[in-house]
Amino acid sequence: MEDNILRVSESVLWTGCIDHDLVTFDVVMETKYGTTYNSYFIDADKKVLIETVKESFWPEYERKIRSLVDPADIQYIVLNHTEPDHSGCVGHLLEIAPNAVIVGTGNAIRYLHDMTPVSFKSIQVKDGDEISLGNTTLRFISAPNLHWPDTMYTYLVEERVLFTCDSFGAHYADERMFDDLVDHWDDSFKYYFDVILKPFSKFMLRAIERIRPLDIRVIAPGHGPILRSSWKKYVELSEKYSLEAIELPQKLRVYMPYVSAYHNTGVLAEAIARGLKSKPGIEVVLEDIEHSNLGEIDMQLAMASGIIVGCPTINQNILLPVYRLFAVINPLRDRGKLAGGFGSYGWSGEGMKMIRTNLENLKLHYTDDVFVKFAPHDIDLEKAFAYGERFAEELIRKAAEN
Ligand code: FEO
Repeated sequence: MEDNILRVSESVLWTGCIDHDLVTFDVVMETKYGTTYNSYFIDADKKVLIETVKESFWPEYERKIRSLVDPADIQYIVLNHTEPDHSGCVGHLLEIAPNAVIVGTGNAIRYLHDMTPVSFKSIQVKDGDEISLGNTTLRFISAPNLHWPDTMYTYLVEERVLFTCDSFGAHYADERMFDDLVDHWDDSFKYYFDVILKPFSKFMLRAIERIRPLDIRVIAPGHGPILRSSWKKYVELSEKYSLEAIELPQKLRVYMPYVSAYHNTGVLAEAIARGLKSKPGIEVVLEDIEHSNLGEIDMQLAMASGIIVGCPTINQNILLPVYRLFAVINPLRDRGKLAGGFGSYGWSGEGMKMIRTNLENLKLHYTDDVFVKFAPHDIDLEKAFAYGERFAEELIRKAAEN
């Protein structure tokens, strides 16, 4: 089958790869529509690649590149972001393109040095820097923390194409690739935003302000459809979602993930939730996570400013769903969030310490907890209710300080 290469503008060609088989991204994000790893070739006087693709797609990617250019003629490889779904082929590429210079932010260059054993030449760029390609120009735009500290955007000035990597992207695989040819993917766009970008909403808004003055014809993201007809809609949606994320009363949202073997921990959870909700402005999301999807848990963690984890102690240990929960707590994002624990136990109650220690190691601000022996009695439920009240008051106090 002939490789699919698509023209985006006079000198830009899409040279990405389509991954229909991806089931989860970054191990936690469900990708029921697959994804695309978008790389772009700029056929200017000086030849450029914008990002690469995931390493497992190297044979297909190499074929595409060789069909367009002698790799020795590639002058620059621009990395707007170095996560391996975009930088995965850089090592292979440098072997066949020894003259290529990596272009990225200082963080991107540092991360790439850590990721690849191959040595490379690099240019570190800042906001507003330009590189002439002879007949056209690349301009770099500061857009950090979307969703790594290394991110930036690249604008092909004369052709008005903006390359944004993860921003304005979606995990959505469709060979037609252009927004006006691909069927409805708004739910995929929203899910991608919620999981990948929403925690960085304030940086999204800053990036949107940076690109507002630009005369844009096409937004070429790193995943999903190329936005040649509807880029304004997806920028506006990103702005709307970001504003909602910042303005919603999520500062006072408490997420209570728990598991319960005989519903004793569950009863305790309900009593704590009642105590929390007795205080004004507190929203509680109570979830039995025994069968929950990690992507959904991750999204709830991102939206919460308070996290109270419940688990019974069984055989001197806590249960697997809670260890999976710990795996998706992100200290970069969740650091300092108010946290607590609860659960029932029969003998020595090791779970109490395990919950506390894990949450503290993950940089959450652990306050207090409530644990009961076997089944909670009325007095225990009163304690749990009071615990919920105290936690809510502390959260309100903390929010007022910010
Ligand atoms: Fe698509 Fe953050 O990588």
